[in-house]
Amino acid sequence: MQHLHMCLLCLIALAILSYFVHQRPSWVTENKGKVLGYNELQTGKPPLYIVVVCCGQRVQETLVMIKSAILFNYDEEYLKFVIFTEDGKGDEFREKLTDWRDIKPFTFDFEILPLKFPSGNEVEWRNLFKPCAAQRLFLPSLLTHVDSLLYVDTDILFLSPISDIWRFFKKFNETQMSALTPEHENENIGWYNRFARHPFYGRLGVNSGVMLMNLTRMREMKWEQHIVSIHKEYKLRIIWGDQDIINILFYYHPDKLYIMPCEYNYRPDHCMYMSICNMSHAGVKVIHGNRGYFHSDRQPLFKSIYEAMENYQLGSNANTEFLMPLHAALSVPSVKNSSCGKISSEVLKVANAVISKRYREV
Ligand SMILES: *[C@@H]1O[C@H](CO)[C@@H](O)[C@H](O)[C@H]1NC(C)=O
Ligand SMILES: *[C@@H]1O[C@H](CO)[C@@H](O)[C@H](O)[C@H]1NC(C)=O
Ligand SMILES: *[C@@H]1O[C@H](CO)[C@@H](O)[C@H](O)[C@H]1NC(C)=O
Ligand SMILES: *[C@@H]1O[C@H](CO)[C@@H](O)[C@H](O)[C@H]1NC(C)=O
Repeated sequence: MQHLHMCLLCLIALAILSYFVHQRPSWVTENKGKVLGYNELQTGKPPLYIVVVCCGQRVQETLVMIKSAILFNYDEEYLKFVIFTEDGKGDEFREKLTDWRDIKPFTFDFEILPLKFPSGNEVEWRNLFKPCAAQRLFLPSLLTHVDSLLYVDTDILFLSPISDIWRFFKKFNETQMSALTPEHENENIGWYNRFARHPFYGRLGVNSGVMLMNLTRMREMKWEQHIVSIHKEYKLRIIWGDQDIINILFYYHPDKLYIMPCEYNYRPDHCMYMSICNMSHAGVKVIHGNRGYFHSDRQPLFKSIYEAMENYQLGSNANTEFLMPLHAALSVPSVKNSSCGKISSEVLKVANAVISKRYREV
């Protein structure tokens, strides 16, 4: 009798065990809210941090940026979005990102943080250039648990997998702690070389819209102390806020900066007069609709890409729901005839290749 009991118990235990072994994937999926980080644990991949600061009417634009990072994450990195934002904007982000996390489980996570500036000088930092743009200058001391991150402005879109830009960290030499792209490619239309009343990096300065940061190294060099003293000395001469401060810092420390090519921060300046960003081999990796170009008709290439991404529903077919409508928009004569629209096939080289390769395989 006792043996029979034991056998029965064993059988039940086995049945339960086998149920869990076989059902595990769907069981885990159903509980995804509770097992965040599963992907990280399973793949052993550390999260790649993408940090953005969002103030004013830029929530939608920020969400479209995040969507593009998720869409192009074909290397299946585990993404972690950190969003610094004003009071009252968190819920809008949380709602959308929770929906997306249900559609693309285990591929990303997010964190929403309040703005924070050095006490004592808060109002001044908050109002430097655009509301809260200076926030990113303080990331090394705000995210003390993070080694490295990619900072982006809200008005950028990914057109390539995040792993592509991330590989520059591996190219840093011993002194480099950050990577940026040049502000300009051409002396005749550069801003810093013609107008700046303060020192700046290199020949034409750097643009700060897309910035790789090794926070560990930035903390080691006491980045924040440098920032505060540069601000004190130059505040009456700077125009573009945080970007000017970054340019001044790397003027004094050029050995700490790695320069990425222009296709990692492609802006209207690169094509509005003539094509001055040599991307013959690569195509655009990250596009930056600065000065409102994603929302204006001045160079419709930029607005077309933004709108195609905005209309795309995450989880649907990227070829038919993103790329095809985008190509249709770009084939309108007025777009094709614009100076940036003319080179759209060059601009979209990576995006086309990545997405169509994906859909050939599937
Ligand atoms: C950042 O720098 C630290 C210190 O040199 C280094 O240990 C770490 O691997 C670097 N991070 C990346 C992503 O390269
Ligand atoms: C790293 O590269 C930068 C830029 O080329 C250079 O200025 C710096 O001296 C290099 N550092 C080392 C340790 O080689
Ligand atoms: C563009 O870059 C490629 C290789 O990086 C080079 O062979 C070519 O000459 C460059 N074109 C121009 C116009 O600078
Ligand atoms: C393209 O634009 C230019 C200047 O805006 C105009 O002169 C030309 O006729 C246009 N060409 C076509 C094919 O629309």
